[in-house]
Amino acid sequence: MTSEATERAPAGLLRLVERVTGPLPAPWRDAFEQVPRAAFLPDVVWLQLADGLPDHTPCDRATDHDRWNDLAWSDTPAVIQVRDGREPESGEPAWPSSSLSQPSIVAAMLLVLDVADGHRVLEIGTGGGWNAGLLAHRLGGANVVTVEVDPGLAAEARGRLDALGLRPTVVAGDGAEGWAAGAPYDRIVSTCSVARVPSAWLGQAGAGGLIVTPWATAWATYGNLVLTPHQDGGARGRFAHGGAFMSMRGQRSRVRDVTTVVRAGDAPDTGTTTLSPWDVAGGDRPAEAVMGLVLPGLRTHWNDDPTEDDDFRSRLWIWDDALTSWATVDYDGRQLETFRVRQHGPRRLWDEVAAAWSWWTSAGRPAFDVFGLDIGPDGTQTVWCGEPNGLSWPVPPDGCS
Ligand SMILES: C[S@@+](CC[C@H](N)C(=O)[O-])C[C@H]1O[C@@H](n2cnc3c(N)ncnc32)[C@H](O)[C@@H]1O
Repeated sequence: MTSEATERAPAGLLRLVERVTGPLPAPWRDAFEQVPRAAFLPDVVWLQLADGLPDHTPCDRATDHDRWNDLAWSDTPAVIQVRDGREPESGEPAWPSSSLSQPSIVAAMLLVLDVADGHRVLEIGTGGGWNAGLLAHRLGGANVVTVEVDPGLAAEARGRLDALGLRPTVVAGDGAEGWAAGAPYDRIVSTCSVARVPSAWLGQAGAGGLIVTPWATAWATYGNLVLTPHQDGGARGRFAHGGAFMSMRGQRSRVRDVTTVVRAGDAPDTGTTTLSPWDVAGGDRPAEAVMGLVLPGLRTHWNDDPTEDDDFRSRLWIWDDALTSWATVDYDGRQLETFRVRQHGPRRLWDEVAAAWSWWTSAGRPAFDVFGLDIGPDGTQTVWCGEPNGLSWPVPPDGCS
C-alpha cells in the first residue's frame, strides 16, 4: 500500500460514509479512521464496465493506480473476486463472488448490529477482511470470529489483518454452520445474503443476542433481516431497508438459464393483462423485495433481446422453483396498456403475481420494513406483514435465492 493511500484517505472516506449515515458514534469513527480500506484491497480488482452492465473487467493497481485508488477510497463496493476465483474464459460473464462491501452500507449495518464493549461477534463472509478489521478494532480481536467459505480469500484476509496488528479469528469454512467453537455470540452479522436463516446461527447466538443478515428471495435481493433468537429455539425479527449483497454459497439460485424451464411440447394458455410487468419487476428494488416475500419461490428473468422471429420487444419470464409452471408477459413495442400473457403448468403464475400485486396495492403498499419473520421452535420460517399472527407466507424450505 502506498503511504499516500494510508495517510490521506480514511478521513475522506469517513466523510463520504457520514453523508449517508449521519455522524457515527466515536468508537466507529475511530475504527473507520484507523483501519484503512485500501489495505484490504488486492492488487487486482474488478471494475463494472458501465452502470447497468452486469460484467466486470480487471483493474491492476500496477498499471492503473488512479482507478484502483479511487475504488479503494470511494463509497462503492469493490469486487475482489469473480466466478469463485476461476478466471473467466473468453465470452464468459465475470459475475462477482467476493467484494469489499460499500462503506456506507457497512457502517449502516454496524449501527444496526448495536454492539457494546465486550460483545463477541461472529461475521459470516470475510471477503477482503475490512469489516472484520473494523469489528476487531472496535471490540478487540479476541472477541471477533469471521468465517469465509473460500480458503484462499480467508488466508489473504488473515494476512492483511495480521499485518495491521488486528487479530480476529479467521475461519475458512461454510458460514451456514457458523463457528460453534467460538459460541455463544452476542451478535451475528452476515455479509452475504440468505433466503432462509441457517439454523446453526440460532443455536450459536447467546441470550440477548441479535442476528443481522442481508436478505434475498428468488424474486429480489434487497435489505436486511434483524432477528432476535428466543430461548425455545425460535426467533422473531423484522426486515429493514438496506443494500443488496451477493448470495451465500449453498443458497445460490440453481436455475440461471430460463431455457431450461420450458419443455418441448409445452402448450401455454394465452391471454392479456393490464398489469405492467415493469410494475412488479421493473427495478424498484424495495417493491420487488416485497413481491419476493409474498411470492415465495417465484423467479423472474427479462429478455430484451428478441430474435427476428420473436413477436415481442421485451419479455418477462416467471417460473417456480419446482419447475412445474412458467409464464411470460410480453411488451409488443407499441402500447403499454395491455400485455400478452402465456401461462403453462398446474400453477397460473401470472395470475398469482397479479393477485399479490392487487393485495399489496389495496393494502396501501406496505413497505419492506413493515414485514417481519418468525422462526418456530420446529424450524419453520414464516414471513408476516404488520404484526405476527396475521397474513403470512412460508419461506421456501430449500432456501435458495
Ligand atoms: C460481500 S462479500 C464480504 C464483504 C466483507 N465482509 C467486507 O469486509 O467488505 C461476501 C463474502 O461472503 C462469502 N461467502 C459466500 N458464501 C459463504 C458461506 N457459505 N460461508 C462463508 N462465506 C461465504 C463470499 O465468498 C464473499 O467473500
